[in-house]
Amino acid sequence: MVDDVVIRTEGLTKIFEKGKKREVVALKDVNLQIGRGEVFGLLGTNGAGKTTLIRLLVGLLTPTEGSATVLGKNIVKDMAYIRQRVALLPQEAGIYDRLTARENLIYYGGLYGIPEVELNERADRLLEIVGLKEKEDFQVKGFSGGMKRKVLVARTLVIEPEIVFLDEPTTGIDTLGARVVRNLLKVLSSEENRTIILTTHDLNEVSELCDRVGILNEGKLIAVGKPSELEEKFKAANLEDVFTGLVTGEGVYGGDHL
Ligand SMILES: Nc1ncnc2c1ncn2[C@@H]1O[C@H](COP(=O)(O)OP(=O)(O)OP(=O)(O)O)[C@@H](O)[C@H]1O
Ligand SMILES: [Mg+2]
Repeated sequence: MVDDVVIRTEGLTKIFEKGKKREVVALKDVNLQIGRGEVFGLLGTNGAGKTTLIRLLVGLLTPTEGSATVLGKNIVKDMAYIRQRVALLPQEAGIYDRLTARENLIYYGGLYGIPEVELNERADRLLEIVGLKEKEDFQVKGFSGGMKRKVLVARTLVIEPEIVFLDEPTTGIDTLGARVVRNLLKVLSSEENRTIILTTHDLNEVSELCDRVGILNEGKLIAVGKPSELEEKFKAANLEDVFTGLVTGEGVYGGDHL
């Protein structure tokens, strides 16, 4: 049982048509519930369907079959309501290269109608946290890949969303920076009770951060649970063994693990 459900999917399916007769089933019959304040990790190999699931939940894609609600609202009919309350850090995010780090945050927050004084305070705090305060007035086009990613994490959080979707937030960020981002997410979840859904290929990050994980394989959700529960259930030493066993079919992991 998940308390205070903020995301619920029922039979959620996405099929991409690729020309005549060719189709890709990116997501198949996914049933999932996520509760308020949870840090939920989506795991899966390349092409497993993680980004597709996130894009459906923020209205960038429409489902082929099934349905989902975010904050109790339907993802097809009520996206205007949902969009005001959730934020997405896309896997391949566009950044405004010609704006400065600070301007990126201010511009984005402005799109959400956040008052200027408030927005400036939030930008100060976030730029400080991600370690870019001294570079805040430099154009982003001169930044390294990891620095751009930090600007994007800060930009995503500047709107103070109820739910934040982060598609590989720490990819490309150095060890220290990734730690800063993880700590920021922990604070958001524990002190501010915001719901965080993230994808990552770093299983240590998952163990450290996530209350629960969902493992996707070829579009299907094949296991959901707390990292420790999954380790116990599959008699595995760590999450990596659980993951490897499930997605390669090695070991005794056949059947339904939801
Ligand atoms: N816009 C699209 N058009 C056609 N096929 C797509 C599209 N987006 C995704 N797919 C396909 O859907 C499947 C799932 O892709 P998705 O991007 O969700 O995977 P992922 O789990 O996020 O992988 P990664 O770890 O590489 O980011 C893949 O087979 C992919 O090729
Ligand atoms: Mg992806």
